[in-house]
Amino acid sequence: MGLSNGMGKIISLCKRRGFIFQSSEEYGGGPSTYDYGPLGVELKNNIKELWWKEMVRLRDNIVGLDSAILMHPRVWEASGHVQSFSDELVECKRCHKRFRADHIGARCPECKGELTKPKRFNLMFKTTVGATEETGREIYLRPETAQGIYVDFKKVYETSRLKVPFGIAQIGKAFRNEITPGDFIFRTREFEQMEMQFFVRSREAPKWFDFWKKERMRWYNNLGINTKHVRFREHQKDELAHYAKRAIDIEYKFFGEWKEIEGIHNRGDWDLSRHSKYSGKDLSYYDDETHKSFIPYIVETSGGVDRSLLAFLVDAYTEVRGGRTTTTKSAKDTEIVLKLHKNLAPIKVAVLPLVKKQPLITMAQDIYKELRQRWSCQYDEVGSIGRRYRRQDETGAPFCVTIDFNSLEDKQVTSRDRDTMKQERVPIVELIDYLKEKIE
Ligand code: GAP
Repeated sequence: MGLSNGMGKIISLCKRRGFIFQSSEEYGGGPSTYDYGPLGVELKNNIKELWWKEMVRLRDNIVGLDSAILMHPRVWEASGHVQSFSDELVECKRCHKRFRADHIGARCPECKGELTKPKRFNLMFKTTVGATEETGREIYLRPETAQGIYVDFKKVYETSRLKVPFGIAQIGKAFRNEITPGDFIFRTREFEQMEMQFFVRSREAPKWFDFWKKERMRWYNNLGINTKHVRFREHQKDELAHYAKRAIDIEYKFFGEWKEIEGIHNRGDWDLSRHSKYSGKDLSYYDDETHKSFIPYIVETSGGVDRSLLAFLVDAYTEVRGGRTTTTKSAKDTEIVLKLHKNLAPIKVAVLPLVKKQPLITMAQDIYKELRQRWSCQYDEVGSIGRRYRRQDETGAPFCVTIDFNSLEDKQVTSRDRDTMKQERVPIVELIDYLKEKIE
């Protein structure tokens, strides 16, 4: 998915409207890391909240967790990451650029130079805990949030009095020293995951695997992702991760290229067995009906916050050639509308005085102060009304509310729908109910 294929337009919109910036850009950029600006952080929070509501709050048998990023180093030996969480790296003998061996052909993609033999490169970031590098202990930044859930599994189910099948969900940062990060926020070295681990009886794992596969696809579709732009892809035996018995990716079609946004994995009893062995603590589940203990199988749903955010942005990005508002200068102009699902939109309502004059300003600000108690709103008085509508179309605000001179007399405002551009007069006393129906 190259920049030339459309990602450039997304990057430029993100920068222009304050969604996403390159991290430490002033110093030449961070190590493939990004900052979420004022609109980006709202969008990201909406995604996380919607996931949490769907996966935790609305289910009887799933609870949440927020475990530490820095864990005991033995965790990553038990999980298999120290030994197996690596990619094959090759280096060009001429230009010395490094690549993932499975991403390229026989020669350097940059200068066609000869490549070194592949060598394994562990993707975990190491750091030192303690006063000095000599006396300190080497530990890792977690490369997935899942392991915190496995290690706490027993404490969580005992304190929450859960019975198999049940799940534990977590959202948090993960870090991977990717050899070839890229495609904007698609593959970065610091990112966020939304993971849910579902603990089941081994014989029921295939059934739950199918259940969660469908549930997760439904989530993307309910949030407006075009059903033609998402699909499942089953992993072949030789590409399965070291822990997986079966894996399916949910893929999104980014500018013609299918790429993973979430993985559903049947991890078997790998993780809990290994942690029991390495920690010396029994991490089995006691079934008080059969009075037997067993190690549950785990069905995992593992999504990336940043990757789904990118998919939502790409899917919502709409260009209207020839323009659709009066400010469009010529038929060659293109207007951008970010048709985000109302629940995702970082700004729900923009409040605009028709012109920057009193008493319109005070009236508009009073309405804005009232609306922002309920929704994320923006007040904007800068520039012509046409320009402000275009600006809000780019932020994805589903509604604009405009206060004009007639509003002073008839106590009504104009509501404008982002997608249809339909305008309606709404009495101010009914505005909250009117918007509630549209955006909640
Ligand atoms: N616990 C299982 C696990 O971590 P994964 O397939 O390696 O599985 C799950 O990662 C999800 O995390 C991916 O589908 C993707 O959305 C996100 N992800 C993984 N590596 C990423 C990276 N370098 N940058 C952004 N997101 C990433």
